[in-house]
Amino acid sequence: MAKKSCAKSFCSVLQSVFAAAGLYGLLYLGVLVIQRGSLPSPKDLIQNPPTLRPGSPSSDSVGQPGLRLPSSKLKVEKINPAANWFNRPESLVVPRDDYLGKRPNVDTVANLTKLVEECRGSYENIEKMPYVYDCLKYMEEGEKEYFYTPARGERASEQPPRRAEYLNSDGADNSLDEYPSYKSASKDSIGQCNGPIVPYHVYWTGPATWRVELFIKSHFYTQNIPCVRLWLWLDGDRDPKAVDKMLNHDPLFEKFLPFVERGDIVLKTWKFPSRIPLPKGDNTDGVGYYKTPGKRNSKNETLVADGLIRDANDQEWLVLTEKQMTFLPVAVSDAVRFVVLHLSGGAYFDMDVVMLRDMRPLLIGDEHSFAERWGGHPSPGDYNTAIMSLTANSSLSSYLLRGGVRMGLNFHPRVIGVMSVKDRRNREFHMLETAAFDPIWTEFNWDRLGRCTVPCIHDYGQVFKGKNAFPLKDEWDSYEGEQLKLASETKSRGHFWEIKTKRDEEISERTTTTEISTQTAVTIDRDALSKAEYRIEQDNYPPTNRTLENFFRGAWTYHVHNQWLKNPEPSSWLNVVQRAQDGFFSHGRLNPYGEKWDGPAIPEYEISWEYT
Ligand SMILES: *[C@@H]1O[C@H](CO)[C@@H](O)[C@H](O)[C@H]1NC(C)=O
Ligand SMILES: *[C@@H]1O[C@H](CO)[C@@H](O)[C@H](O)[C@H]1NC(C)=O
Ligand SMILES: *[C@@H]1O[C@H](CO)[C@@H](O)[C@H](O)[C@H]1NC(C)=O
Ligand SMILES: *[C@@H]1O[C@H](CO)[C@@H](O)[C@H](O)[C@H]1NC(C)=O
Repeated sequence: MAKKSCAKSFCSVLQSVFAAAGLYGLLYLGVLVIQRGSLPSPKDLIQNPPTLRPGSPSSDSVGQPGLRLPSSKLKVEKINPAANWFNRPESLVVPRDDYLGKRPNVDTVANLTKLVEECRGSYENIEKMPYVYDCLKYMEEGEKEYFYTPARGERASEQPPRRAEYLNSDGADNSLDEYPSYKSASKDSIGQCNGPIVPYHVYWTGPATWRVELFIKSHFYTQNIPCVRLWLWLDGDRDPKAVDKMLNHDPLFEKFLPFVERGDIVLKTWKFPSRIPLPKGDNTDGVGYYKTPGKRNSKNETLVADGLIRDANDQEWLVLTEKQMTFLPVAVSDAVRFVVLHLSGGAYFDMDVVMLRDMRPLLIGDEHSFAERWGGHPSPGDYNTAIMSLTANSSLSSYLLRGGVRMGLNFHPRVIGVMSVKDRRNREFHMLETAAFDPIWTEFNWDRLGRCTVPCIHDYGQVFKGKNAFPLKDEWDSYEGEQLKLASETKSRGHFWEIKTKRDEEISERTTTTEISTQTAVTIDRDALSKAEYRIEQDNYPPTNRTLENFFRGAWTYHVHNQWLKNPEPSSWLNVVQRAQDGFFSHGRLNPYGEKWDGPAIPEYEISWEYT
């Protein structure tokens, strides 16, 4: 009897365990569906564990080692012999590429206070915060108000490089007396900046994916090349050989090697430092130094406050305890940005960001420390640090760094944010609204008021969609401009960028190698492919009137938010971005500032074979 009831209770325990597991599975699936906008395949479930919420900075920038490009055999098998895709015009309309006008001057500064106030409203009432459309409009049209050139003598380019806040701001370790004259970049030379060179930082683990490509290309597409450097931090705590792998064994990164050579991209191994130098001044956040400092150690250093050491040269250091060093943070990249910006200044970007405008005016003013808001959250401490900037070696950067270390290496932006509000230091750390860097986040969280953005997009999956999806319901609801001219009205054929000839060559190369490697007689009649008449009604991904000009105009960046395994469908918004970039790098299109590309050739994006 006793035995039986024991078995029974065992059964019921098992039952609850199964029920719980089932429920967990459902929730898990639910999260995936919400994130991706579609049901995941079982393969995804194994390869792509969901991250809990979009924008969770803890989950960003991690490569997908499981991701492999499809084999060439697969590619050939996937080619649709009816070949409609092959002759698909790039666009239905003629895009205006130079829509941003002239690039801001090296000394142009954005008044962050103005931008914050204009898009947030007052500090207490944040009455403008939910009006994303209005903020975008302001950023698009208000340059005259929020951009300015400082008075003579106060411009960044006029300051001695020795005192610059950015590491290596003159390309000569801050040793020059003044900045050289401007020289634009060429194939082999990065040129010369007539003002401080600003470092941009990104962090990455694993091999490069098309997302790395998207980020890097967006950088070259929009930034002032001689005046920036892209530092790519690769996690050396996880993989000490990461830099070597990316330089020598990464098929995708190969296309960017000329930029490593030219000096645009600097590959760096990230290792958590055991001590970090701090500037002069009170680094105890007002608590004060120990009345009786500790004994000098063998190196003549003393512990002067909690976690602070002063060396024989009176330099103060933030030290990590033995314990902290062995329990390095799970969210490494959350911490990396604070350390790296403190040490070298500039800006930090998550890799899943697409740059849309020149960032420089946001980064060279006197008070350029900023991050963005966490969605439409109203609290003044709700930061998101996907994109942020700090003045190097400053009181604020030291304070934030020390705070994160003291909280057990917790650099979650909202934790750091709560701390800085409590200590009344958050106003030094500007909070820009989502419109600036992540224009659909507020919408996605159902917090948007006023009009929808242009394009009107409600979730992060939408920009990937091209299939039978034009126009997506209300995509153009907020658009008030003129209708763009149809390309067919200006040219008889859609191929105004000669893209087909290039693709032709690519295909022939690929087909040949496949034939050799697989020994199967896969024959693709390329001539037939290229001659086949394009029939829009047979195309699953027909060209549209989407152009970069109408992609969140005014925003500095667009944040893709994870979704690392997804590829953009042809004719989707992200694909429009890709083609604008490739058109700029390889067939004569202009960038938004009306400039031509003079740098090394950059190969185009891989065709998304799954969508032909
Ligand atoms: C920046 O904007 C603020 C707020 O509108 C204004 O008070 C300040 O004078 C501006 N600063 C500069 C340098 O224009
Ligand atoms: C940091 O600032 C202090 C002055 O506060 C200066 O002495 C020191 O050289 C600076 N360190 C770096 C790395 O720039
Ligand atoms: C240690 O520092 C003190 C005070 O700055 C100095 O007098 C002393 O000579 C130093 N000792 C060594 C070994 O450097
Ligand atoms: C694009 O086409 C849609 C649907 O026909 C239209 O509503 C929208 O205004 C067009 N946009 C532009 C920029 O021409």
